[in-house]
Amino acid sequence: MSRLISKGSVELRLPDKTISLPVHQGTEGECAIDISALRRETGLITYDPGFVNTGACASDITFVDGEKGILRHRGYDIEDLAENCLFLEVAYLLVHNKLPNKKEYQAFSRLMNHHSMIHEDMRNFFNNYPEGAHPMAVLSAMVVSLSSFYPEIEREEGHEDLDITVTRLLSKLRTIAAFSYKKSIGEPFVYPSHKYTYCENFLNMMFASPVNDYHPDPVAVRALNLYLVLHADHEQNCSTSVVRFVGSAGSNLYASIAAGICALWGPLHGGANEAVIRMLESIRVNGGNVDRAIERAKSRDPRFRLMGFGHRVYKTYDPRARIAKRACMQLLEKFGVGNDPLLEIALQLEEKALKDEYFVSRNLYPNVDFYTGIAYRAMGIPENMFTVLFALGRLPGWIAHWLEQHSSEQKIGRPRQIYTGETRRPFVPMDERP
Ligand code: SDX
Repeated sequence: MSRLISKGSVELRLPDKTISLPVHQGTEGECAIDISALRRETGLITYDPGFVNTGACASDITFVDGEKGILRHRGYDIEDLAENCLFLEVAYLLVHNKLPNKKEYQAFSRLMNHHSMIHEDMRNFFNNYPEGAHPMAVLSAMVVSLSSFYPEIEREEGHEDLDITVTRLLSKLRTIAAFSYKKSIGEPFVYPSHKYTYCENFLNMMFASPVNDYHPDPVAVRALNLYLVLHADHEQNCSTSVVRFVGSAGSNLYASIAAGICALWGPLHGGANEAVIRMLESIRVNGGNVDRAIERAKSRDPRFRLMGFGHRVYKTYDPRARIAKRACMQLLEKFGVGNDPLLEIALQLEEKALKDEYFVSRNLYPNVDFYTGIAYRAMGIPENMFTVLFALGRLPGWIAHWLEQHSSEQKIGRPRQIYTGETRRPFVPMDERP
């Protein structure tokens, strides 16, 4: 449970009264003014579009220091987790607040295998999607349908063992993701196999077929594992906030995760990794002139932003982007595509933007999405699956936040607003309207 400590209070002086508002401090020294009594005591609300300055909750899961470029999951630096952990270890850590010992890890992995298949009736859902259906649309629809096949998730008293619920969703999302890819290319589904690890299974389900003797490349398996770890959680980002918000209404885990998938799909959020590749490709086909892209990004053209750049919280280099860039360059070297033109363009864009006053003055740096897509492309993963991989990685974070939301007596999310519409006006019957 969150450990807020009291740090005294601040005074709010209004024309007719002065009130005192408590200040809370978190374990990393962050402080927040508690305004939960503000409206009751003053009739006023706060106004903060996009919640730039507003803390929605106290959370024990992930700490981000955007000024120093720090990211920790349950106290562990992302650099340590990325270097040393398998994705399932990090998933276990996010949900259980501890890294698993060998026995716990083996039990978790066995459950993953046990739950890797989806009901054959669910498999048939894929038949009715058009071939060009975006895998994110399929993913969200399939996940919310899981509650029809596993209704026990709804019954509080029948609440299953936590690891069954978590591994079922982690394992089935991977299968649904791979099946949605196979559907999009008109190839037969490849079923999961107990002989493979989490990442090996995903690559096998993606690239094996009845006519090729595919074996997951250990380099790609290691890279995929790393990128899933980098995406595992990121405190109160848009999609995680949606998962918590939907969960706050008492909606079940599958419905909440399905909503999070839809939020992640947006190009300003998880959809950026796909948009980065489209942007780099567009620069390449137009002669590779990065200066034009930089100028267009600075021009405030609402239709163009430097995708993969900027962040609501990081005002320095995103620590995940640093790791993703290094891994991307190593991967391309190992795959013999170190001279990928898109990588060259990305490196030039980064170099020029980080010297340009417009980006420097706004603290705009590469974020986690800037290099990830280039690495996925090198692994043979198509663009329309990039955000699906983001969802696969983010799933344990979403689950951990949903559980945290449910374990506390947090209220249903319901923000206020300032109304700026028409004031009261008399009703006019239709035949009297001008
Ligand atoms: C993710 O929140 C998370 O944690 C998200 C995430 C996670 O792990 O869950 O980290 C994953 O979503 C990363 C972000 C992926 N999105 C993109 O790469 C899309 C491109 N980036 C931008 O759209 C933007 O930077 C956002 C959406 C990421 C952040 O937007 P903010 O915080 O609302 O910032 P802003 O729009 O207020 O920008 C501040 C200024 C503005 O200029 P001025 O009004 O001050 O003149 O910076 C400019 C913006 O125009 N700006 C950009 C820019 N990003 C911000 N200008 C050009 N290109 C950009 N990419």
